Amino acid sequence: MIIKFGARARALIFVLLFLSLLLVLAHFRRRDEPRLEPLDSVTVPVAPGNGPLPSVKPAPDSATNITDKQWSSVWSRVPCVGLRGLNFDEENDDTLRESVIEGLDYPSPFVGSHDTVGLSQTWMTAAARYGPYGWGDDQAAYDGKKAPWNETDWAKLQNQCIYYNAHGFHDAAIIQPFARRFRMREPGEEIKSPVIEPQAANYVPRTAIVLRAWEGYNYTAEDLVNLRATVAETALRFGGEYTVYILVHVKDTGRNIFSSDENYRRAVEDLVPPEFWGMAVLFDETLLQSWYPEIKTHGATYQIMQPLQLFAHFYPKFDFYWQLELDVRFTGHAGRYLTALSDFAREQPRKQAIERSTWYYMPEFHGGYSDLLAAVNASLEGKGGLGWGMRIQDFEPIGPKPPVEDPLDDNFEWGVGDEADFIALTPCAYMPSLEHWVWRNWQQGLKAGTKTPGWMCQPAMGRASRTLLLAVHHAQAVQGLAMHSEATLSSFALWHGLKLVVPPQPIYQDPQWPHDKMNELFNGPGAIETHRMQGMEGMARGDVIYRQTDYEYITTTSASFWYTSDFPNRIYDAWLGRVGSQDGSSSRGVPYVLWRSGDGKVYAPNMMLHPVKTNQNRPLDSSGDSPWLVIAGVAVSLLGLSAAGFWWWKRSSRSRYSALRTEEVG
Ligand SMILES: *[C@@H]1O[C@H](CO)[C@@H](O)[C@H](O)[C@H]1NC(C)=O
Ligand SMILES: *[C@@H]1O[C@H](CO)[C@@H](O)[C@H](O)[C@H]1NC(C)=O
Ligand SMILES: *[C@@H]1O[C@H](CO)[C@@H](O)[C@H](O)[C@H]1NC(C)=O
Ligand SMILES: *[C@@H]1O[C@H](CO)[C@@H](O)[C@H](O)[C@H]1NC(C)=O
Repeated sequence: MIIKFGARARALIFVLLFLSLLLVLAHFRRRDEPRLEPLDSVTVPVAPGNGPLPSVKPAPDSATNITDKQWSSVWSRVPCVGLRGLNFDEENDDTLRESVIEGLDYPSPFVGSHDTVGLSQTWMTAAARYGPYGWGDDQAAYDGKKAPWNETDWAKLQNQCIYYNAHGFHDAAIIQPFARRFRMREPGEEIKSPVIEPQAANYVPRTAIVLRAWEGYNYTAEDLVNLRATVAETALRFGGEYTVYILVHVKDTGRNIFSSDENYRRAVEDLVPPEFWGMAVLFDETLLQSWYPEIKTHGATYQIMQPLQLFAHFYPKFDFYWQLELDVRFTGHAGRYLTALSDFAREQPRKQAIERSTWYYMPEFHGGYSDLLAAVNASLEGKGGLGWGMRIQDFEPIGPKPPVEDPLDDNFEWGVGDEADFIALTPCAYMPSLEHWVWRNWQQGLKAGTKTPGWMCQPAMGRASRTLLLAVHHAQAVQGLAMHSEATLSSFALWHGLKLVVPPQPIYQDPQWPHDKMNELFNGPGAIETHRMQGMEGMARGDVIYRQTDYEYITTTSASFWYTSDFPNRIYDAWLGRVGSQDGSSSRGVPYVLWRSGDGKVYAPNMMLHPVKTNQNRPLDSSGDSPWLVIAGVAVSLLGLSAAGFWWWKRSSRSRYSALRTEEVG
């Protein structure tokens, strides 16, 4: 086969070669900023030499009680039956023993704040925190009453609790163990766009907590303890306001889980520990394909929200859905933590909420959270921000219309008291400006393509309203619109004018770096008021986020909540007594956020950790692979281009010597 290259083809190949050269240069270009040096490592705080020793006291009720908030007039929680068959309020063994430590400063997070989010500054040892759920109950030192874990049925306990508290709910539907609710899409089945229904004042909204698991996940003793804690402290402690499910990705479609009840049941029994069988919900890829045939992929990396969207569709009795992965840990009370986040979000105004969601809030530079709000407002000169009257070409927004024409007329009152449609766990970023995020251009079906202002919040966890999930469900199933996992809920919330909030939860760093540098790297240089880059007014724009790969030496090692960080594991290992000396005589290996008392007990402050790996289980999302994908992509295109170049060179030299022949054939 002989192909003749005209001048145009040669020019094209030349341009391609030139571009590939640029790509190589761009890839190997060295940034001239020097790497930051971390601060000297801090060991665990010890008692001051001459002052009184810190003393551990039981936390006061005011720090640990649970209030009924705005629903107290329509509902009072009825205590539920705990794991040992007694009411929660009568059973000491089912209650966490939280402490306060007098004479010891609470460790201060590098971003976020316990006070701002309404989290208690309490401490717990691992034994106090997980003991009620069986941690250490095989050891002589265990001082609690053992529970018969192999006979515990968490779905049944949850159902009992919903039943006791049914008077508070609009619909007190219970969990139906082993029920196959998911089904394939029927030909021509109509899917309606959701409408916003105002929250009725006379019932308590219900929230599903959807824990994401998959076939092949090996549940360790620690996983079990974590799952028990999560169910007990949310569903049972909160009187059925929360209901916990385990949503399991069945990887082997050969199990045919949707063809019979037997297959489904067998898969539940194979893939989930017996205590949790009743709360398992299974899906496989055939289900996702059936509902979203136009979306080009259904894998967890790109479309981790699809199963959650379907969950919202088939489990409609809930108003909100938390999606959490199994590698999340709460070192404090799980239910109070999640509730604090949603309480904070409810009190946020809608105006400029999008801009505020980009800031890594650091009280030492930003003052109170209301100061941050005022500074963002100053940068926007009082305008409404990106989310005010947002409109994209692909659909009509379903969110509420602003109550006033001119945003200046809304003094941050609109939306206060409204539940958030999306609560993200760490700040968000404006996708058109992201330089290094591999999936910044990944989208499907949008009329304006990558010019559509995508909004990305890592990781792919958070709380979504049913309205938001059904809106995404509709867009994917009917219009074939899609964004990457980490940009799905946030982008659709923005485009629909729904309420999006990132509560500034406390996050620690180790090694620690100078805080002013962290402020500059996470938020961008200059005071908040000066952030006026066109199109990004009022938004943070830190290099750690927008040029991630250059700063992985900071993010991958250091934060207590960051998908690639190793710090959560180090905290967890030290807390559970897996490092340092067993006799408690040494603080070696105990990170500074923990406190080791004189008798060797290790106390942890109230944090949400992610990711904590219990065994070889790999995370659902493979975001960590991204630099390798880039490198592989560059390598493949370079190889292709050099082959083309070589071919061209051979072709052109041959044509010089055998022009006649080429012309004959051509
Ligand atoms: C919880 O603590 C607050 C603050 O001390 C108090 O006002 C409230 O009555 C307490 N609620 C319960 C249920 O104990
Ligand atoms: C649970 O474990 C206990 C102690 O090992 C045993 O006596 C009991 O029969 C077990 N129950 C079930 C339902 O397996
Ligand atoms: C927001 O900015 C506008 C315009 O500068 C100003 O009038 C208003 O007082 C500001 N509001 C707050 C809460 O800072
Ligand atoms: C889970 O355990 C099985 C059996 O020990 C092992 O073969 C498998 O590799 C483990 N899976 C993971 C993800 O660690």
